[in-house]
Amino acid sequence: MPARTSKKQKASAVSAQVLLDWYDVHRRTLPWRAPRGKRADPYRVWLSEIMLQQTTVQAVGPYFVKFLKAWPDVVALARAKQDDVLTAWAGLGYYARARNLHAAAKVVASEHGGRFPSTYEALRALPGVGDYTAGAISAIAFDLPFAAMDANAERVIARVFAIADPLPGSKGEMRAALQALVPQMRAGDFAQALMDLGSAICTPKRPSCERCPWGDVCAARAKGVQEELPVKAPKMVRPLKRGAAFVARDAESAVLLVKRPEKGLLGGMMQPPLGPWGETFPSADEAMAQAPFKAKWKKKTGVVRHGFTHFELEIEVYVAELSGRADARPLGGRVKPGHGERWVRDLSTAALPTVMKKIVEHAFPDEGPLFRRH
Ligand code: ADE
Repeated sequence: MPARTSKKQKASAVSAQVLLDWYDVHRRTLPWRAPRGKRADPYRVWLSEIMLQQTTVQAVGPYFVKFLKAWPDVVALARAKQDDVLTAWAGLGYYARARNLHAAAKVVASEHGGRFPSTYEALRALPGVGDYTAGAISAIAFDLPFAAMDANAERVIARVFAIADPLPGSKGEMRAALQALVPQMRAGDFAQALMDLGSAICTPKRPSCERCPWGDVCAARAKGVQEELPVKAPKMVRPLKRGAAFVARDAESAVLLVKRPEKGLLGGMMQPPLGPWGETFPSADEAMAQAPFKAKWKKKTGVVRHGFTHFELEIEVYVAELSGRADARPLGGRVKPGHGERWVRDLSTAALPTVMKKIVEHAFPDEGPLFRRH
């Protein structure tokens, strides 16, 4: 009978060099990646890593290019207006990331002389930079031997070492197993190699083990359980919230938007006026009491659905088509001046998060795309 191998022994069989050799042949070309053998610009690394939190590489590409064009360095971003940053971010979701991005740029500009700090601790202290992002920037931009543990890395590590304890409880174990693998040299390439492996080979479903550089040392593959790992604790059922939105449009096609409070969900972003969210939709009478002003509000058929991290939202959409130019007369009603209210003709210039775009598009289904696609 072969002797049982401990995790430590398996770690020595799982070689960082083998992964780096694979990376040298198969690395992806990505807009934020430095050419082979070159150190990446910390600003680009940081910007891309913040964008890539909870968003796919494919979705991030055009946003990354747009941000670099508008703000080629961190000092330029620090000087930007928050509204412009939020508008450029609109569509990427999780808007706290955009506000933190701007706040971090200001910290780098004012407290670090416009140069990104080069230690894990100082990076970790920046707004919006958690353990994963601090590890990724330390490794990719400064070649410091840190691990970048995201969901891709968790999947690869859970499989290579056959860690069957459920996440998130097993995060510590996985982190330790990954850190033990990080090489002293080329830590940045190692982090990126792991990302590419997770994306191209060690995929959530039907991984391509026969093409994997670690295929012959992978403990999960040896046991035939690769598709069952990582095990995740059951997700909480997300509560459902419901409410009404009021989309008013004047004769010149300007739509009334108001600004959300700076703090909290979608903070500082624009939206059409919305009523409160509860367990049920408001009745017709309740909706009229919530509307921003008296008008011939007509309810559209169907609902807009949107999933947030902690709840699902369903919105019924009421539309009012006004005669004349609405910005020429006082609003009255419940939208009091000071809510950042604006009649906006070119909706692509407003910081509208995806759910609010869906609401406006639902209000005017015959208009075709109202927003320039990124
Ligand atoms: N996912 C998170 N960060 C990434 C990066 N730098 N490259 C590719 N995928 C990623």
